[in-house]
Amino acid sequence: MIIKSIAELEGKLVDKTVVVRVDFNIPVIEGKISDYTRIMSSLQTINYLQAQRAKIVLVTHFGRPEGKTDPALSLAFLVSELTKILRRDVKFSYQHTGHEPKQIIESMKAGDILLLENVRFNKNEELNNKKFALDLASLGDVYVNEAFSCSHRPHASIVGIAAHLPSYAGFLFLNEVKNLTLVVEDVNKQSLAIIGGKKVSTKLHILANLSQKMNKLAIVGAMANTFLKAKGYSIGESFYENELLEEAKNILEKSKAEILLPDDFICISNTVSWKLKNLSSIQADDKIFDIGPSSAFLICQAIYNSEVVVWNGPLGVFEDKRFAFATDTIARFIGARTHTGAIKSIAGGGDTVSAINNSHLTEYFSYISTAGGAFIELLEGKKLPGLCVLLNETK
Ligand code: 3PG
Repeated sequence: MIIKSIAELEGKLVDKTVVVRVDFNIPVIEGKISDYTRIMSSLQTINYLQAQRAKIVLVTHFGRPEGKTDPALSLAFLVSELTKILRRDVKFSYQHTGHEPKQIIESMKAGDILLLENVRFNKNEELNNKKFALDLASLGDVYVNEAFSCSHRPHASIVGIAAHLPSYAGFLFLNEVKNLTLVVEDVNKQSLAIIGGKKVSTKLHILANLSQKMNKLAIVGAMANTFLKAKGYSIGESFYENELLEEAKNILEKSKAEILLPDDFICISNTVSWKLKNLSSIQADDKIFDIGPSSAFLICQAIYNSEVVVWNGPLGVFEDKRFAFATDTIARFIGARTHTGAIKSIAGGGDTVSAINNSHLTEYFSYISTAGGAFIELLEGKKLPGLCVLLNETK
């Protein structure tokens, strides 16, 4: 897979304007940014473009305003944040296209930065409207997609614009693709996927795809309950999805991967607030909240015997310390094996990343994706529209 890299622009951007789609859809709690990862991860590309003496127009969405202006989702607050981080005055345009941004760009010098208002305030963004894409493209000479995490969205600033400008991938985008395709495409390595979370319904396609591609697939979290039920085990009052029992049976029957399911659990019941139970001893009023030490050991063994490990979704209700044991143990073991160079480890998804952050293990993983939905769609084996347009050489 050959994607045109921003590095190919070396020496070619003096006095050019580059429209850069970033993903600054960042978590903000009570007006304060609680995680800067997505901004910091785009700095290499922004700094490179500045060093190339380009003018930079940053385009991003923030939240889901559904095509309407919503002051609570305005990006005006980001101007002072970016000015501090980039140590340079960042300009802001309330309009995405037309006179306002064009006049600002006109007044900019090499290396200056303009941030456009939340691109999803315009309904034409999500509609991938041709005219809107063309108007966005008319702001610059070159387009760079640095928003891998939005590349599952066929929107104007991701897909449409690339038809009208020479288009390249930024460094973060390239890094995401390199690391994530390693998981889905390197069939020569012993591979393990650990997929957790609550609902099979949200991960059905990932499970179906990875069960054909990986050597081992550990199904954990509450979604394992649906698989245990499909195999005829009693899971007491634990959460499961009745309508997905047939799908679960289907995945179990057709899987080329060895499927690992938990066989001991931390449960609560009407009378007990915390109890370790084997699969065979689960009572009618038990509810599973985490997997137990024997199951965690089984997964650690599988990690030990693998060369590539991909992890998405917590193993238990880790937000409550009583049920964080398995998620924390697996995070530590993957971190330790990666640190010794024994495995390559890739993790992604909001809950998984926050579990890794909580355990202060971020730097012990080979790669942690900044993507949520796009990471999932890639693991599902889907083609991402934003990636496809960068592979298309003919313009
Ligand atoms: C994300 O947070 O996963 C991306 O910014 C995409 O956001 P969306 O799911 O609202 O398209």
